[in-house]
Amino acid sequence: MRGRLVVGNWKMNPTSVHGALELARGVAAIDGGDVEVGIAPPYLALPQVRIALGGAAVRIYAQDVHWEPKGAHTGQISAPMLAGLADGAIVGHSEVRRDQGDDDARVAAKATAALSHELRVIFCLGESLEERRGGKTDAVISRQVHRGIGVIRTGLVTPATLAIAYEPIWAIGTGEAATGRQAGDAITRIRYELAALGLDADAFTVMYGGSVTAANVLDFARADGVDGALVGGASLDAGQFSAIVAAFR
Ligand code: 13P
Repeated sequence: MRGRLVVGNWKMNPTSVHGALELARGVAAIDGGDVEVGIAPPYLALPQVRIALGGAAVRIYAQDVHWEPKGAHTGQISAPMLAGLADGAIVGHSEVRRDQGDDDARVAAKATAALSHELRVIFCLGESLEERRGGKTDAVISRQVHRGIGVIRTGLVTPATLAIAYEPIWAIGTGEAATGRQAGDAITRIRYELAALGLDADAFTVMYGGSVTAANVLDFARADGVDGALVGGASLDAGQFSAIVAAFR
């Protein structure tokens, strides 16, 4: 059976390390059972969050990672710098694609850097509203899988090292979640494209992300092929995040 994974992407929240520690302590108390639980706090909070989690079975992800290991890249954080602080990194998030101009090639380079330094990867992809309305969802997914994942060095991409998050841009932070059916259909397409790359598509964990809440999570947990959730806003409340984890148990 595929691994189930629920990760809270805290984005640029909370605005203090103190707030991050409080939230981390709340997450540490969650019993995920067979569901793997993760959080992606802001970089600044990583060292103390790691300590605050103690022995809790919560994986820590960086929200992004640079493609170079070191050098003249003001404001950036590299994979070697995350050693001992994070278990993995998110790459390809639409907000990073938007804010930093990441294209598929750069996302692939970031994923390669993370995987080469023994960080797990959560690879985000998804279409815009305009693309969905234009009937281009499958084409966008295909392009993002092939140009983003398909170019990563053979052997680095395995079900143990890389999970995928289908995050349609129109559903992120809008309160307009996709339906379980829409998420399931897109995820079926993602697996079809992974198989086309020669990968063991059915073994890869694929999550849904975009306005997941405790109120709508069951629609995703019950949908075919949806193995978990990448949660933004609702992950800032440990109680609600706990309910989302429980839905996938
Ligand atoms: P929201 O849950 O706030 O819509 O964010 C989803 C997301 O972008 C997770 O990475």
